[in-house]
Amino acid sequence: MSSVADYARPNPVKENRSGLIGKGVDRYEGPLKVTGTAPYAYEVATPSPPAYGVMAPAPIARGRIAGVDTKAAEASPGVYAVWTYRNVPEQAPRGTRVHPRSTAPARPALEDDRVRFFGQPVAFVLADTLENAQAAANLVRLEFEAEAPEADFRRALDESAQPPGEEDVEIGDVEKAFASAPVTLDETWSTPVQNHCQMEPCASVAWWEGDRCVVHTSVQMVKPAQHGLAETLKIDRDAVHLMTRYIGGGFGGKGQTYDDLTLAALGARFLERPVKVAYSRQQMMHGTIHRPATVQRVRLGATKDGRLTAMSLMTVTHCQREGHFTEHSSNFARSLYAAPNRLTGHRLVHLDLPGAGPMRAPGEASGMLSLECAMDELAEKLGLDPIELRIRNEPAADPETGKPFSLRQLVRCMKEGAQLFGWERRIPFPGRVRDGRWLVGTGMSTAIRGNFLLPAKASFSVDRDGVITVRQGMTDIGTGSYTVLAQIAAETLGVPLKDVRVEIGDSELPPAPGSGGQFGAATAGSAALVAGMNLRSAIAELAANDPASPLHGGPAERVTFLDGVIAIGNRSESLASLIARAAPEGLAVEGEHRPAADARNWSQHTYGAHFCEVGVDPVTGETRVRRMLGVFAAGRIINHKTARSQLTGGMIWGVASALTEGNAVDPRYGSFVNQDLGSYLVPVQADIGELDAIMLEEEDDKANPLGIKGVGELGIAGAGAAVANAIYNACGVRVRDYPITPDKLLAGLIEGS
Ligand code: MOS
Repeated sequence: MSSVADYARPNPVKENRSGLIGKGVDRYEGPLKVTGTAPYAYEVATPSPPAYGVMAPAPIARGRIAGVDTKAAEASPGVYAVWTYRNVPEQAPRGTRVHPRSTAPARPALEDDRVRFFGQPVAFVLADTLENAQAAANLVRLEFEAEAPEADFRRALDESAQPPGEEDVEIGDVEKAFASAPVTLDETWSTPVQNHCQMEPCASVAWWEGDRCVVHTSVQMVKPAQHGLAETLKIDRDAVHLMTRYIGGGFGGKGQTYDDLTLAALGARFLERPVKVAYSRQQMMHGTIHRPATVQRVRLGATKDGRLTAMSLMTVTHCQREGHFTEHSSNFARSLYAAPNRLTGHRLVHLDLPGAGPMRAPGEASGMLSLECAMDELAEKLGLDPIELRIRNEPAADPETGKPFSLRQLVRCMKEGAQLFGWERRIPFPGRVRDGRWLVGTGMSTAIRGNFLLPAKASFSVDRDGVITVRQGMTDIGTGSYTVLAQIAAETLGVPLKDVRVEIGDSELPPAPGSGGQFGAATAGSAALVAGMNLRSAIAELAANDPASPLHGGPAERVTFLDGVIAIGNRSESLASLIARAAPEGLAVEGEHRPAADARNWSQHTYGAHFCEVGVDPVTGETRVRRMLGVFAAGRIINHKTARSQLTGGMIWGVASALTEGNAVDPRYGSFVNQDLGSYLVPVQADIGELDAIMLEEEDDKANPLGIKGVGELGIAGAGAAVANAIYNACGVRVRDYPITPDKLLAGLIEGS
């Protein structure tokens, strides 16, 4: 087992001889994306003309299917088959895990007569065209015995209980410290259900080659999708060849698979031809997971000079009746501020709603919307600048575990951000700045999100043209995985970027965990570095042992790699000439990276500070984000352009959380009211003013051999709170029920006037 100490050693990525690391190089797959030639799962060319599958959703949230009439659907033009639970081909029962190392269990479709959530696929039609399949799906007649759903989160709050296996974390005595604190705050915030709304809905196309299922789908993690499908179909894991080459957004919603995958595979086997199945935009809202709503109570106690003596964040949230997920909105608070007395925990209520699950920065994205506004309110009570309040409560070590921080530059993020944003010009009293009809205000928030590393493998090869190919079962969900892997490979082998190929998103490739929890680049990249170093050694040995090479005789460990040339001192030749002569079939090696055994001895996070300026129209209650700046500390940055895109994308999502986004629940039906992007409001260009993300120069030598951290989730953490705090500074209204829509703001403005 390696030690974190090994991470501090020099390597080609850190040395960055050709200067590729950190550069904002263009997307590896960019030309394919902008010319519409990067095939998403549903668009993959099939070996023969495909049939089309369409799922029919349940119109109730809870109950059972009591009657099935598929005659009209079966008689409809072009229809090959109509399946319900009564005649779907055999699958393994839910949860089956025959292979002990399967990373996901069976997930059968149309498994029984139970309806567990509104929109659950309950029938499936296979037809010659998408239109015929859709038309026939509308003709499936099912009778339901409905039970009254419990889907009202507010009414069910009292039934909430500790999530299984969890305990509150209490340090010191919060009640006592809160009761005796000279300045206190006790307020409750709420956040709504949110849907991922990936631009690409979930989709699969499958065909069979003998006993082998070939499937292209849209998922964040290759192995669990492959294993889960194999378990469901009761076939060998190797009998599933799963590919996910281009993915139009995941955000946590594609961390698992859905019925499109299972039904495409079953349909293709049944028809003996390729089958395509996709969720419609409307079906995505119910048929896949969502971020659950939360109610968060924050209590803060402080001395008059702004030292926190008590800090508590308790979250109540919900998940599906048979589900297990908890939105851990309180967890981030455990590492953010020093306070000797602290209490954090969660309560969970089970509802008859679709499955709750992870969504970009699960926990932080919702949780920071409360505590970071509470800090703003406390700063006002204390007459302190919000940044100064935070600096006074900056911990020297992790405030709960006492572990040292691997690297924490939160204060620097706040200070540099303040300077760039012009924070010192801010008037701390609300409602004092006008610009025409707009009341103008500014606000800030911190950002924190954990940093993670998982084991991964990769393979590297070089061919006779000196072209390096990286192969890894990694995914690119739009984040830039292709590009950063190409940069790491080019820098490690000292070749130009144009001489690197990247193959990812395939279950045949050396396994990597995929994209999630902002661990992707660090996890995949660390394995790529190891594999790349192994290839360097193999090439150096080859040259040292080849009598025709100027490098003959070595020493192999002194071979340098730069600009496609390998050299020892002034003896050199091109990489291509060596391979063409000494290994014309090319060389291929594997590498694996596993997290250091002592990695958990450090408290490790990514940090940032958000600054926002809004205008509030006091007549209409409309809020406009005029400018927004984020300053982030997330280790070494591999690609400035893709990292910045991740961060600004997260910030924009934070604007959505603050102002527009949320799904309404209809408790009568256990359904979500908003089922398309016309009514589920995410920001458009016009909603975003000036926007920038700055990354501090840093390298976390406790994180991984590259010194990098994740940025995919950091940008959204806290962003919405900065907007909310700016709204208060603009107009003096605190809305603690997100999103802060004009009606809520107007109510506050009228009340206050
Ligand atoms: Mo994620 S929300 O950990 O893909």
